[in-house]
Amino acid sequence: MRNKLIYFIFLTIAFTSMIQSCQNETSINFKRYYVNGKGLYEKNCQNCHGSDGKGLGTLYPPLTDSSYLNLKRNKLACIIRNGQTGTVRVNNIAYDGIMPGNQTLADIDIAQVIVYITNSFGNKQDFYDSEFAKNDLVKCK
Ligand code: HEC
Repeated sequence: MRNKLIYFIFLTIAFTSMIQSCQNETSINFKRYYVNGKGLYEKNCQNCHGSDGKGLGTLYPPLTDSSYLNLKRNKLACIIRNGQTGTVRVNNIAYDGIMPGNQTLADIDIAQVIVYITNSFGNKQDFYDSEFAKNDLVKCK
């Protein structure tokens, strides 16, 4: 009986510490992606979309509209790599501009930018790693 109890306590401790170490790993990765993504954003995106993600008038759409970013979550990688033309509606405003592609950004760079923009400017989404980006990028049209 006593042995069983000790065994049970041991299992519980082992299990909780296992879960905790997983969580820590995700949160460390999250921070790493976020920080790198911020740097990449400043270099490649900020000129048009602004440091606060608000865009510029009717020229550059904002990245502050979480519902748009949420709906397009799986298209973001393609938009970033290949750019976008044609009309896009964000926050009920139509934008008809040209966003240049970023062919030199690797899958992981794109994932980092996505973690940054989907967790800044009032957005709060889940972690998105390079595997997600890889999967989304094979579906680009
Ligand atoms: C030269 C200016 C420019 C740069 C640099 C630029 N964009 Fe854009 N972006 C635009 C324009 C213009 C559109 C709208 C295109 C259209 O009309 O279809 C757009 C659209 C978007 C959209 C979809 C609409 C929205 O507001 O959510 C996203 C997401 C986006 N850009 C993210 C980025 C990210 C991330 C980067 C950096 C890797 C970046 N852009 C760099 C000009 C730019």
